[in-house]
Amino acid sequence: MNKVSSIVIAVDGTAASGKGTLAKKLAAHFGFAHLDSGALYRLAAFSVLESGGDPSNEADALRGAQTMDFNLAGDPRIRTDIVGKAASYVAAIPAVRSALFDFQKNFLASPPGGGPGAVMDGRDIGTVICPSATAKLYVDARLETRARRRWAELKAMGIRRAEQDVVAELGARDEADKNRPISPLKQAPDADLLDTSDLGIDAAFAAALALVSPKVEGALKDRHRG
Ligand code: C5P
Repeated sequence: MNKVSSIVIAVDGTAASGKGTLAKKLAAHFGFAHLDSGALYRLAAFSVLESGGDPSNEADALRGAQTMDFNLAGDPRIRTDIVGKAASYVAAIPAVRSALFDFQKNFLASPPGGGPGAVMDGRDIGTVICPSATAKLYVDARLETRARRRWAELKAMGIRRAEQDVVAELGARDEADKNRPISPLKQAPDADLLDTSDLGIDAAFAAALALVSPKVEGALKDRHRG
């Protein structure tokens, strides 16, 4: 296993909590690399669905993880709720998680671009992928608030859903992510909780920055000294 000596900000949390936006903004602020680990599971799931496989079948899911196309990371087709649900199925399969483990560890150990740090968002970054992260956030918000955000995102993509269906789906996905035996979603003991229910993007970012900055600035100073 690679030793992670770069500065790492781990941003975990529930679906549509705002963690991805915050992670991106934190990365831009500090000049760090950013990886949305959820996109990896979505890409694996997309590959399974495209080949007509079953995302909850171990062999199909592992093949999906081995054949996923990184060029599709920015493709809106992996952002649908169908792919999100399938991602949650493939993510519960240990062979899939271990297939994606080294990629995530390597990203953190040697952040692309050669900068001193990386921000990674997901479900198990502070608990499993990088327990020694410099700073850890656990981002959450009320289910109804998150569902409304996701509903609006889907609408913007041209996908019209009943809001109560989005509530039910997000709730079910969080339950599955929190209760699976492997790498369940949970707040690391040393993670700071950030509830974005009543915060707009700017206020949420200011709150996130206030929590992580002292730790990250301290680590940057230590690097310059050392
Ligand atoms: O973050 P996003 O909603 O795109 O993630 C899709 C799914 O991928 C999650 O519901 C979860 O099951 C899985 N995931 C995971 N571990 C991560 C990131 C995502 O299990 N680090």
